[in-house]
Amino acid sequence: MSSAERLASFEIIKRLGAGGMAEVFLAKKLGAEGTYKLLVLKRIHPSHARSRRFRAMFVEEAHLATRLNHPNIVQVYEFLDHGDEGLLLAMEYVEGYDLGRLMSVARQKGTRIPPWVSAYIIAEAAKGLHYAHERRDEGGSPLAIVHRDVSPQNILLSIEGAVKIADFGIASANLFREEPGTLKGKFGYMSPEQARGERVDRRSDIYGLGVVLYEVLALRSPYASKADPNVKPQDEELLEAVRNGNFLPPSEHVGEIPSELEAIVMRAMSHDREDRFQTARDMAGAIGRALLAKQELVDASNIETVVTMLLGRSSILPSAPPPSEAAQQTLAAIPQKRANTAGLAEQDDEPKVSVRRPREVRHVAGPRDAARRPTRARAGGGQRRRLQTRVRKPPRDPRSHRLQARRALDVDRLGPSRRAARLDHRHRRAAREPVAGGVRRGLSGGRRPRGARGRV
Ligand SMILES: Nc1ncnc2c1ncn2[C@@H]1O[C@H](COP(=O)(O)OP(=O)(O)OP(=O)(O)O)[C@@H](O)[C@H]1O
Ligand SMILES: [Mg+2]
Repeated sequence: MSSAERLASFEIIKRLGAGGMAEVFLAKKLGAEGTYKLLVLKRIHPSHARSRRFRAMFVEEAHLATRLNHPNIVQVYEFLDHGDEGLLLAMEYVEGYDLGRLMSVARQKGTRIPPWVSAYIIAEAAKGLHYAHERRDEGGSPLAIVHRDVSPQNILLSIEGAVKIADFGIASANLFREEPGTLKGKFGYMSPEQARGERVDRRSDIYGLGVVLYEVLALRSPYASKADPNVKPQDEELLEAVRNGNFLPPSEHVGEIPSELEAIVMRAMSHDREDRFQTARDMAGAIGRALLAKQELVDASNIETVVTMLLGRSSILPSAPPPSEAAQQTLAAIPQKRANTAGLAEQDDEPKVSVRRPREVRHVAGPRDAARRPTRARAGGGQRRRLQTRVRKPPRDPRSHRLQARRALDVDRLGPSRRAARLDHRHRRAAREPVAGGVRRGLSGGRRPRGARGRV
């Protein structure tokens, strides 16, 4: 690299790792106004890039890789030839881990990846494989794409639980050797025909996927020593075992492997390719049917749970803080949140009750109603009635000075004869009227009977 921080027009954030033919970097592609896109840059080792045969082969494969666009395949954005800086592939960044890493952490922790989650991961990968296997060129002719390097390291899992196959189209370049006839690569995932150096087709990838399912279920290679699962035979011995299909079913090594899944492994790893699933879609379908028959509901959220439980949401970006205790508590609290959901439902009901209340208050409850239905809502109605009583205009106070003064004034405004007649009338009426509210309506507080005005 000419600069420690830049590669071609990209800004390097960190090195993610290195594989058989390349170094992998997390990088930024800068855009206008400070915008940027995070992506992965794969830089082919200069030793490979110097070979003209390798370059020709790699360029041909890159043509295929840039054509693939599927949710279960790591998308390749562009291929760049940067002279001294090498051949570069810019591709989608999958924030997460590869399946190989997940398996080794599970092994270290003495735990296992739940079998049905493992099966779901493989079914997702199979969908990506099937898409690529089916690709045709613009003229409609099959492109006959074969991955050739299906392995746990090339199955990426995002933290959100997406499953993506990496290195599609460039895998055969990865297996490239200057000396034709010699074999290179991850022998433990090869099909017998590939290990024999024969021509391969899509069914070779299905075999590889079968090996990955075996490993993720049993957390050991089918070719590992029975005595010590961590010991794999050396290259030649391993190749021989692969060519001969020399392995035991996973349940011979570990218990509690669902028989449906073991059957799928054994079919995918059939020695004769005619006996395997003929398409990756068939394999994904078999897993889907087994999940359905067992009523196992698995989706991306289960992968997310397994990934975060085993590896955490590590700070992949330099600026991202490590998961705080609070964040972990939040994750651990998810079931409680579910329990809360029920609680929330109750709270949801609460406003409904209060929504109903105004309707209840419209009911003008009589005293008999109140006796019959002593409910909360009724209590509301009762309150409303009391409220109405309170806001009702108070009866006029017959002793009110203002009123007395006004009446006195009214009487004063009358002529002497009419004034005498009115006073006389009032005295006579006051003497006649009964006591109301404990206060005898007297001279100045009596209500005039309707129509009395004319008579006064
Ligand atoms: N698109 C990607 N997003 C995130 N991480 C990636 C991406 N591609 C590769 N990696 C990570 O970079 C590392 C190196 O990948 P690389 O493909 O070079 O090697 P490998 O897969 O281990 O072996 P192989 O050479 O067989 O592909 C791996 O750990 C992988 O998890
Ligand atoms: Mg890879």
